Amino acid sequence: MLNIPALKGIYRYHEFIGPVLPLDAVIYLGEGHTPVVEANDRLRAMAGLRFYYKNDGQNPSASFKDRGMASALSYLQYLIRQGHVEDVLAICASTGDTSAAAALYASYFQGKVKSAVLLPRGKVTPQQLAQPLGSGAAVFEIPGVFDDCMKIVEALSENYRVALLNSKNAWRILGQESYSYEIAQNFEYDMAEKVVVVPIGNAGNITAVISGFLKFLDTGIITHLPKIIGVQSEHANPVYKYYLEPEAEKRKFEAVAVRPSVAQAAMIGNPVSMPRVIHLVDAYNKKSGRQNVFFSEVTEQEIMDCQLTANRNGHVACTHGGECLAGLIRARQTGQVDGHETAILDSTAHALKFSGFQDMYFQNQFPPEYEVVPDPKLINTPQLVRPADLKHVPEPGKPLYGDELAHFVRRISAEIATLLDLKKI
Ligand SMILES: Cc1ncc(COP(=O)(O)O)c(C=O)c1O
Repeated sequence: MLNIPALKGIYRYHEFIGPVLPLDAVIYLGEGHTPVVEANDRLRAMAGLRFYYKNDGQNPSASFKDRGMASALSYLQYLIRQGHVEDVLAICASTGDTSAAAALYASYFQGKVKSAVLLPRGKVTPQQLAQPLGSGAAVFEIPGVFDDCMKIVEALSENYRVALLNSKNAWRILGQESYSYEIAQNFEYDMAEKVVVVPIGNAGNITAVISGFLKFLDTGIITHLPKIIGVQSEHANPVYKYYLEPEAEKRKFEAVAVRPSVAQAAMIGNPVSMPRVIHLVDAYNKKSGRQNVFFSEVTEQEIMDCQLTANRNGHVACTHGGECLAGLIRARQTGQVDGHETAILDSTAHALKFSGFQDMYFQNQFPPEYEVVPDPKLINTPQLVRPADLKHVPEPGKPLYGDELAHFVRRISAEIATLLDLKKI
């Protein structure tokens, strides 16, 4: 089975994601089956329990969104082949990663599916903006925040013939459920004492993760539901706030006005999937026979410090991955998780997509509204090694030769040895 291209990616769980799809309609661009990497002893001691990062940044467009797009675009391919639709314009609002994934998968269909993406101007990283541009999508920058872009794509999909690729699209969620299936498989289907930690923005991801585990439980593939912890920054925390009220009947959802956040892709004040969150959290807790979904709120400072610390210990976590670690530590402090449990943290994108925040931290240039003050122990900057008395240095197209090169090598290596306090052999 593993030699069938359609089953190499998320459609390895074909029966759970889209059994109506014939395998030759499935698109595989290398998504899914992302690494699950255990944290070293140092991080484990810091968190107070054993944990792993699942690196969803190692998907083709460098975020978990590829799971949902592989599924949604496979379905579109099926509809086109059946003659149900033609000349599809796929459209989405995005905090950066949805558009990167949508544009990538749509570009594979040359001629059959075009894509257009709406981004909040200045609220996506340069790397994220480069992605849909590179894939050839029509990219529109809109004033405001993600929630405003979402309203526009909703209006477009109500009034025009377009395919909406946001997580309102059920095929997106079906694809993203593969994240849970992979975790279950990775841990030999033993979900007892496991804790799955995910960041929340538009809440598509957490609902997919919950729904995936429920399906595996219902079919008897797993016998326990893992604990779920949804994490939000205090700068974009509508879901956390909603669940602050312990009594379900008294809870009232209120959208929040978001503030700048380093977990920028989750900077959403009015999550589209909130009704699904409410329904699925309730169903999950009932099936578990106890409260098994928890919410945790963290500061911007904690997110940055945790991301940088994780990455100084062998990981490639994005800021949202840092948010998960901060959320886990918080959950351990408040007693939501216990030291004998094992956590799996979602690094939803690759660290490089959000390296601008790392730069701001290292150069101490965070605008005050982020409320992040760099910890000198975590700062790292390059050092220029250019002894002032060195007359000749190589330049592109002008290499040094002979004695000049030997002198250059001697001086620079001596300087580095001094800076690093190296002992002579
Ligand atoms: C990297 C990253 N992490 C987390 C999220 C939040 O996921 P969701 O919006 O499904 O809650 C997003 C969504 O845009 C994202 O791109």
